[in-house]
Amino acid sequence: MNHLTIRLETEKDYRAVEELTREAFWNVYKPGADEHYFVHTMRSHPDFIPSLAFVLERDGEIIGNIMYTKAWLEDETGARKEILSFGPLCIAPAYQRQKLGKLLIEHSFDAARRMGYDVNIIFGNPGNYVSRGFVNCKKKNVSFVREGNFPTALLVCELIPGVLDGKKWMYIPSTAADCCEDTAAVAAFDATFPPREKAWQPSQEEFYIYSHSSVVR
Ligand SMILES: CC(C)(COP(=O)(O)OP(=O)(O)OC[C@H]1O[C@@H](n2cnc3c(N)ncnc32)[C@H](O)[C@@H]1OP(=O)(O)O)[C@@H](O)C(=O)NCCC(=O)NCCS
Repeated sequence: MNHLTIRLETEKDYRAVEELTREAFWNVYKPGADEHYFVHTMRSHPDFIPSLAFVLERDGEIIGNIMYTKAWLEDETGARKEILSFGPLCIAPAYQRQKLGKLLIEHSFDAARRMGYDVNIIFGNPGNYVSRGFVNCKKKNVSFVREGNFPTALLVCELIPGVLDGKKWMYIPSTAADCCEDTAAVAAFDATFPPREKAWQPSQEEFYIYSHSSVVR
């Protein structure tokens, strides 16, 4: 594919990125989507990292993006380490499965390393990320909510290999995504886009399984 550019998001891109996000996520994880509202709101959250908000352009059209917030890991002594969490990450449906998501992940990881970050943790479908260096949180001793709880969808990538070795960690996500709990606000924001039918599709059940299960042994 020719003329691919990755650059930082600017204010002029905001609506195009929200439209892209809505299109890419629609009906994938639930009937409809709320990720475009998350994108809209997270830019003014204190944990948002604008210097890691990248868009992917093809001939001047935005066909992908990735955004990051700060998150934290707490060790057994209560000491906290600032880490990264990305999401949403999306590629326009017409361009998916052509390694463009990989391109955005690798580009942003390089930038993150230059900024001094060494760990990235996300909740996601393992199928999308295990070939990008992510492993289940149990392998890195990263618990969530309570010690020894290792959600299947909680995936850890060390940007510096081995940096988490030798300790037990508790994952503390940003509160940026909490905005999506306000379903009235999500619906009001969605109403500013063209109407679209909400429907069930199998990927929703797949993600239900991932997001409601844990690795126990
Ligand atoms: C998920 C998403 C960002 C991935 O981007 P992409 O450009 O389509 O993916 P890539 O081509 O870079 O990589 C696809 C990887 O996913 C995996 N994969 C999972 N299901 C696959 C499928 N049906 N076909 C091909 N690859 C698949 C493969 O491991 C592949 O990596 P590999 O071939 O290098 O081993 C994109 O598909 C998307 O926007 N989906 C909708 C929104 C979304 O789910 N975002 C992520 C939130 S967790």
